[in-house]
Amino acid sequence: MSAGKPRSDPSSIRCAMRSLTASIQRHIAWIATGGTIAGAGTGTVYAAGTYDAETLLARLGLVPPLPLRPSEPYRIDSKDATPAHWRQLRDALQMALAAPDCAGAVISHGTDTLEETAAVLALTLPAPVPVVLTGAMHPADDPHADGPANLVAAFDLIARNALPAGVWLAFAGRVFAALGVRKVHTTALAAFADPTLDGEKAKILSAMAPPLLPFPDPWPEVALLPCTAWDDPNTLSAARARGAAAAVLLAPGNGSLPDVWHKAIRDAVHAGLCVVRASRCGWGAVTPHPLDEALGTVPAGKLSAAQARVAAAIVIAATNDPSRRRTLWQHVLS
Ligand code: SIN
Repeated sequence: MSAGKPRSDPSSIRCAMRSLTASIQRHIAWIATGGTIAGAGTGTVYAAGTYDAETLLARLGLVPPLPLRPSEPYRIDSKDATPAHWRQLRDALQMALAAPDCAGAVISHGTDTLEETAAVLALTLPAPVPVVLTGAMHPADDPHADGPANLVAAFDLIARNALPAGVWLAFAGRVFAALGVRKVHTTALAAFADPTLDGEKAKILSAMAPPLLPFPDPWPEVALLPCTAWDDPNTLSAARARGAAAAVLLAPGNGSLPDVWHKAIRDAVHAGLCVVRASRCGWGAVTPHPLDEALGTVPAGKLSAAQARVAAAIVIAATNDPSRRRTLWQHVLS
């Protein structure tokens, strides 16, 4: 008879347990995309997106609370981001989040178009764990670099299970839900805010996840148009002629539409253009108005013009049905 070890041998069980524990060890997926946080130089003279994730970690001397699995779908100054980058980032995240032991993902990102990326991910990324964006206002080489503290905060939020699943921004000691956040300062360290909510409230509200919609393919054209009485209302029909499926109007105050624009807006909506009223104010929501009924516009709600533009593209691509679009828009804003 064979003298092979019985299956219940304690040492083989211990060994199996050890390899099981190792195989389910939690880790953080770190998706690096460039930005000032990975910038070389000091002060305002620097090159964003210089250091790759490994180099950045070594230079900053950070000890992460969980093992990191870095990847870098691209490394850019985020002013150059396009829908093609957003697709690459979403693909990289989906791959990273599919690992069974992934506790969450941190995305290091340039601050300039971070709000667009946050909106894209909040509306299209299935995120069973927290996904935390962060960045920096000073480059990595700067003696006042804020990237290390922001990165550590993002890693810690995931390691401590401090956030529900979904898309977040951790910046300058604060945490924001992705939809509604905006960059409100050109140079201050606390460059982000959610003008309609505050931290704790945002956490609670984020439990009401936005609807998950398909990533548009192709990405529809959405025009962003200044809309004061000085501006030419014909820019709306011109945008439509160029192939725009929607327009976000950067209007004064509470998305207040000048009288001289009303006819052009009504005609454009009638011709199939989706028209969103956003505000050029940095603070506050754009609330519904009877003109929405009369002209066919939709208010941007808590979304900045930048986020409204992204959301409009995603909603338009999701359905051709105008009433379904309105319902989706309400969900996005809720
Ligand atoms: C960028 O957006 O990539 C550069 C600016 C920044 O990260 O603050």
